Amino acid sequence: MYFPIYRPRRLRRNETLRRMIRETRLSPDDFIYPLFVTHGRGVRNEIGSMPGVAQLSVDWAVKEAEEAFQLGVPAVILFGIPKKKDLRGSEAYARTGIVQQAIRAIKKRLPELVVITDVCLCEFTSHGHCGVVVKDQVDNDATLKLLAKMALSHAEAGADMVAPSDMMDGRVKAIRETLDAKGFENIPILSYAAKHASGFYGPFREAAESTPQFGDRKSYQMDPANAREAVREAALDVQEGADIIMVKPALPYLDVIRAVREEFDLPVAAYNVSGEYAMIKAAAARGWLDEERVMMEVLTAIKRAGADLIITYFAKDAARLLKK
Ligand code: PBG
Repeated sequence: MYFPIYRPRRLRRNETLRRMIRETRLSPDDFIYPLFVTHGRGVRNEIGSMPGVAQLSVDWAVKEAEEAFQLGVPAVILFGIPKKKDLRGSEAYARTGIVQQAIRAIKKRLPELVVITDVCLCEFTSHGHCGVVVKDQVDNDATLKLLAKMALSHAEAGADMVAPSDMMDGRVKAIRETLDAKGFENIPILSYAAKHASGFYGPFREAAESTPQFGDRKSYQMDPANAREAVREAALDVQEGADIIMVKPALPYLDVIRAVREEFDLPVAAYNVSGEYAMIKAAAARGWLDEERVMMEVLTAIKRAGADLIITYFAKDAARLLKK
């Protein structure tokens, strides 16, 4: 087919025609909405680098979750800011921890909303690393026990799904075995399978107060240059029992999303991270970009690349637009 017999513009002539041949469609069902929960009551601390996102006390977090659910968003993912950080991140696996409290409150109010929890120690440790530090190194195998303990305490509090984001080797297996041994064989694991050591997490670290106090995360998170390794990482998590595999960040890693999509038949998630959100918000605030348009274009691109699920701070805004 070639010009003038074939004219691609014929099917672009109006919105109805364009709707008919659209290949990728976003739905609120695709979104997972992140929430940062903090101690106290009536607390709402806006994050400077993430306009519209705030650290919320449990009462406010329940309201946010409810709003998202009413807009058709099926799931939230919880991050916690502890009262006190220590070397082993004790609040991460405490029955009275902030995330455990939030799970109970949200599930009580919204039993049908899927509550996912981020499983990682960095928000809870005084050094800000994702595991136990021994001689300035993050000790892989010592960390596994704590991650499994953390996942179990989330399940006991009523979480519907756990999402390990620490990038320790073997953590999916460790968590799966612990959950199964305690009767939580039906709790799925959404693994951050290919998580890169990215500068795009900057605003999140302000929100979660989780900046490493020395060094960086490059000895456990992946090199941004590697896509083949991302597929290998995902294969390991699949073998260890992951139910959903995630690529992170999303927008600068569309090729990785596609590679993982093509290799596995499990659901694939992508994390449209804090820096991706902040870039759009900052440019839109200056009038340099049309926020709604760019937001929908980016989310569509992430889905087009192969993601079934997208964790995004835009979840409510995008769902609202899709409802119109
Ligand atoms: C915890 C975690 C991080 C993010 C999700 N879980 C931060 C990090 O690894 O430093 C980043 C999410 C975002 O930037 O929106 N390990």
